Amino acid sequence: MSDTLTASLTPEQFYGEHYQTLVAAKAQLDGLVEEFMRSQSSSDDLAPVVYHTSRIKSPASLVEKIGRKGGQGATFQDALAVGINDIVGIRVNCAFIDDVYATANWLEARPEVQVVCKKDYIAHPKPNGYRSLHLILRITDGPASLLPAVEVQLRTIAIDFWATLEHKIKYKKTIENPELMQAELKRCADEIASVDISMQAIRNVARGED
Ligand code: GTP
Ligand code: MG
Repeated sequence: MSDTLTASLTPEQFYGEHYQTLVAAKAQLDGLVEEFMRSQSSSDDLAPVVYHTSRIKSPASLVEKIGRKGGQGATFQDALAVGINDIVGIRVNCAFIDDVYATANWLEARPEVQVVCKKDYIAHPKPNGYRSLHLILRITDGPASLLPAVEVQLRTIAIDFWATLEHKIKYKKTIENPELMQAELKRCADEIASVDISMQAIRNVARGED
């Protein structure tokens, strides 16, 4: 079957026998983050996790990524062979930077989770201004343990606003002056980061933690 035809299958058809594993992994990630949220809910503060979204990568997006990574074929196994580790992913959006790290620390300490890799683009932003904390995790219990890895992206809600727009613009071919657009996006990312730091400082003062 051609890549285009493969990409037009439903996720269930495309992933076949692996689909239930992916559903289980996604549900387990949602469950973990919701457990963390409940564990924090007695506080009268802003909730540390404002919202979270999870997804199983669409067949079209997976096929595109296998090609981008130089792989052959267009199957679940082909994706694993080129080291794609975000077939199942969750994005956790927090009010404050401290909450991003608190959520990550809580997840990392879970016994059913092993940290495969951690990338801190908040401490070390990408050149375009992108900031997020990425955890590649292996779930070691239940059906999700059949998967080598899942991806957790943690960021502030302000950065999520930026990243969502930047992602949309990146794939637009019709931007007249892409250099100017990149420079503007970078400026906005840096301003957002600065506001996030100020908001964190205000919260610390309000809590008497300055
Ligand atoms: P990918 O092959 O794109 O997954 O990158 P990678 O394997 O080198 O990992 P990385 O941690 O850089 O990126 C993982 C994911 O983070 C991406 O698939 C995106 O969802 C997100 N991401 C990374 N960089 C950017 C960025 O510059 N802008 C936006 N909007 N999202 C990004
Ligand atoms: Mg990746």
